[in-house]
Amino acid sequence: MSWHELAFVATPYAVILLVVVATTYRVRHRKFSVTSLSSQLLERDKLYWGSVPFHWGIVIILLGHLVALVIPGSFTAWNSEPVRLYALEITGLALAVWTLGGLLVLLWRRLQSKRVRAVTTPMDLVVLGLIIAQVVTGMMVALFYRFGSFWGPEVFAPYIRSLLILDPRPELLADLAIVVRVHAFLFFVFLGVFPFTRLVHVITVPLQYIFRPWQRRIFVERNRVRSTP
Ligand code: HEM
Repeated sequence: MSWHELAFVATPYAVILLVVVATTYRVRHRKFSVTSLSSQLLERDKLYWGSVPFHWGIVIILLGHLVALVIPGSFTAWNSEPVRLYALEITGLALAVWTLGGLLVLLWRRLQSKRVRAVTTPMDLVVLGLIIAQVVTGMMVALFYRFGSFWGPEVFAPYIRSLLILDPRPELLADLAIVVRVHAFLFFVFLGVFPFTRLVHVITVPLQYIFRPWQRRIFVERNRVRSTP
């Protein structure tokens, strides 16, 4: 097995298995550890200037990535007019600069504020470092291998699809520049460490709340009390 196959065939499958097993274990057996462990009470101002740009920036960028991978044709159609291609590339890059600014503020806050440093684990710094590396390599791809929003979906969408249908085609990425491959590979590393970090709070979006289980239970209890003579 070549390095390329190790990176783009063995790693993704190993990571998917690891994520499913470790996240299920953590949610079932160590429920209380599934939290972002917010440090907002220790320091708020810098958190605001770091957290808001980071969260908004990363969410929009990742949504863009998701659309490119799931509906690659939408990007091809949008980019058919050069002016729209430029607008998309400039927006992507601007969002990346915004996100990176937020990340650097968050890193500086963790290192500089004594109270926040006291609750910072080495894994928190690994996570920040990984996200910074992911964003910086993404910016390098956008800057040096133009125009990623044009060629990216055509290359990566079939590759991801090949992984999902268990017929991996790593050769699709074989001719890409090393920075592009590092950017894609970092995502698997990132996914692999996910269940062991505070990032796991992402899966605790309170979806359950929509179905209001507690309110419904109270409603049922009340009705039961009323209907008993
Ligand atoms: C945690 C995961 C990821 C993060 C945070 C991330 C972040 C970024 C950022 C900040 C950029 C530059 C801004 C932009 O042009 O959108 C970028 C560009 C890019 N990323 Fe990612 N990325 C991630 C995963 C991936 C993966 C898995 C792939 C491929 C399967 C990928 C492919 C690309 C490509 C092709 C570009 C160039 C887009 C362009 O030039 O417009 N990224 N990424």
